[in-house]
Amino acid sequence: MNTQLSFAPLAGIETELLAVLAADTQTSKAPDAKPHPVLLTSDAAVQAAAASVLASGEYKAGANETVLLHAPTGVAAKRLLLVGLGKQAKATADKVRNAAGTAVRFVKPRGIRELVFALPVSELLPAVSNTRAAVEGAFVGDFDPDTYRSDRKDQSVGSFTLAAPAASDRTALEAAFAETVIIGESQNFTRALVNEPGNKLTPTLLGQRAALMAAEVGLGWEVHSTEKLHELKMGAFWSVSQGSAEPPALIVLRYEPEGVSEGPVLGLVGKGITFDSGGISIKPSDNMEKMKYDMAGGAAMIGAMRAIALLKPRVRVIAVICAAENMPSGTAQKPGDVQTAMPFSADQPGKTIEIINTDAEGRLVLADGLTYARQLGATHLIDAATLTGACVVALGYVNAGAFSNDEEIWAKFDAALATSGEKFWRLPLGDEYAEQIKSEIGDIKNTGGRWGGAITAAEFLKVFVEDTPWIHLDIAGLAWVEDSKPYIAKGPSGVAVRSILEWVRSY
Ligand code: BES
Ligand code: MN
Ligand code: ZN
Repeated sequence: MNTQLSFAPLAGIETELLAVLAADTQTSKAPDAKPHPVLLTSDAAVQAAAASVLASGEYKAGANETVLLHAPTGVAAKRLLLVGLGKQAKATADKVRNAAGTAVRFVKPRGIRELVFALPVSELLPAVSNTRAAVEGAFVGDFDPDTYRSDRKDQSVGSFTLAAPAASDRTALEAAFAETVIIGESQNFTRALVNEPGNKLTPTLLGQRAALMAAEVGLGWEVHSTEKLHELKMGAFWSVSQGSAEPPALIVLRYEPEGVSEGPVLGLVGKGITFDSGGISIKPSDNMEKMKYDMAGGAAMIGAMRAIALLKPRVRVIAVICAAENMPSGTAQKPGDVQTAMPFSADQPGKTIEIINTDAEGRLVLADGLTYARQLGATHLIDAATLTGACVVALGYVNAGAFSNDEEIWAKFDAALATSGEKFWRLPLGDEYAEQIKSEIGDIKNTGGRWGGAITAAEFLKVFVEDTPWIHLDIAGLAWVEDSKPYIAKGPSGVAVRSILEWVRSY
């Protein structure tokens, strides 16, 4: 998708479609109070073109409600699309993001290949956050998952122009715009990876895609496989891969800005299970095809690293993605097996893990990934994983789960959420939960029973981060959009890319 920022007067812009936001200014709660929609632009010609439809009562400017006018009088655009924000008093950057996505998704199936989106003008919404939200939303809306359809027609919209008022702070908007294009592209890069089926994106191929991207944007990279796992004594990670004919991939991406040799090293660790059958503890076949997205945490880290390489924050970052396929076979691990995780240093023993359920494989690959990131010098850790169904039970498809062992790192992540607009809800950790994963035969077991499953999974990871400040993101419920919405297609969401990036940029 080509993107431009324009400061030209709205009514004069020649384009296939001009999208303008509308909001409902009705504040009365009386039952007979009618919606009172207004346009969020100060352009008098555009206002006049929309006046009769706004007055008709047919259009209420509800959230993502659209109405299309052809050949609007006094406006150079061929079409005028109104997109609703809902109640004006409740308008937020989130609503603007969704409205931009809605405009793009309105245009795509109609074969229109360009649109101009008017940056809403309202005292309630700062122009910079609106600019970011509009560009993010446009990229979110532009993605469709139909990669392998031979009649693929819903390709990119082609050209998206954001039209800002002439009186804007141009330098600030231009900077926000350019940054957000990189962020939107990176989020869609992640979504394209997550969308790939298991046969088209094996651990090896995920490693190749990450390496290609890294070379393109100037990141350091290494992709290792079985031999290196043995050398590092990554017994937990390797045990997940042992049942598959596909070798695992240990993907390392490095961002080392010039002149930064001190300060924190941020470690990004991602779960990259390219297909999770459950292994010997095999999953039911209903919905098993969805388990191609079990590498969404790893893909989020790869997308975030792309954005980091291009936006160049002044902090060192290292990403470790543990990719494997979890399969049942004669060589697969079995319930009851005991695995030895990677030791932090060669003179220490690795922690022993009793495998209760081979379907709790994400925590196994992450255990070694977290240890390796620390060994490579990470002083602060963040991991992302489609880790537990229990997290979806707890928070549904609305909030992803988040955990942290340190208030300072959490405060930074929480602040990043305000910028990214993504929804994460912090869940507790605690020694009482850790009791549930004690093992009789070894140090810990890989499942903690039915109750508090997202938390016991986090407690499992905590054993391997030791005292390092750490955030764990369980994105099982958010990584895949179950039903399409006006602003986003059904399929991979790219969740966590933006929040991880903003967290990194806060150092
Ligand atoms: N990849 C799954 C978790 C998952 C579930 C992701 C639904 C996305 C949607 C994970 O590997 C898994 O199977 N977890 C088990 C853990 C259990 C065996 C302790 C689960 O949640 O059932
Ligand atoms: Mn599993
Ligand atoms: Zn899994």
